[in-house]
Amino acid sequence: MKTLVLYDSVFGNTEKVALALAEVFAEQGPCEAVKAADFAPSRLAGVGRLAVGSPTRAFRPTPALVAQLDALPPGALAGIDVLAFDTRAWIEKAPGILRFFAGLFGYAADPIAKRLLKKGGRLVLPPAGFVVADSEGPLLEGELARAAAWVHSAPASR
Ligand SMILES: Cc1cc2nc3c(=O)[nH]c(=O)nc-3n(C[C@H](O)[C@H](O)[C@H](O)COP(=O)(O)O)c2cc1C
Repeated sequence: MKTLVLYDSVFGNTEKVALALAEVFAEQGPCEAVKAADFAPSRLAGVGRLAVGSPTRAFRPTPALVAQLDALPPGALAGIDVLAFDTRAWIEKAPGILRFFAGLFGYAADPIAKRLLKKGGRLVLPPAGFVVADSEGPLLEGELARAAAWVHSAPASR
């Protein structure tokens, strides 16, 4: 069964996470990674597992990624194992006001997971976030390894 990693990325950090995940999935079977702008629903043909990720921008996934997910027909992800991830600010270092609003409005992975479920996907892991030191990166040390460990704990695709 094939795995697709669908992601968006402005500064390249989420892309690094997406490619690290794709490397792990590729150990288990065919895997492709595609950026939101290049995605078309036909890419889901034969896909048994779909991982979707975005930078958190104003507490949400990017509009390009949201548009792709919302455009999927109802039930498009039926029978597909789904995972949701994001990259996000280093909140312990952020100003108090951002910490407050982040606590209130959260991060991109949850709304991604919600959309994947709405389209019929089966969420196989809790959504996960990976932390950048600053808006443009880099990822904190160890985050790529943590991303790989996150998907290692997912059930093998059927
Ligand atoms: C305009 C803008 C809005 C952002 N909003 C948030 C936010 O609401 N919460 C958060 O944790 N990080 C926020 N960030 C930090 C991004 O999450 C960070 O830039 C992103 O993880 C980098 O990923 P990328 O390199 O794939 O674009 C924001 C950054 C920018 C530039």
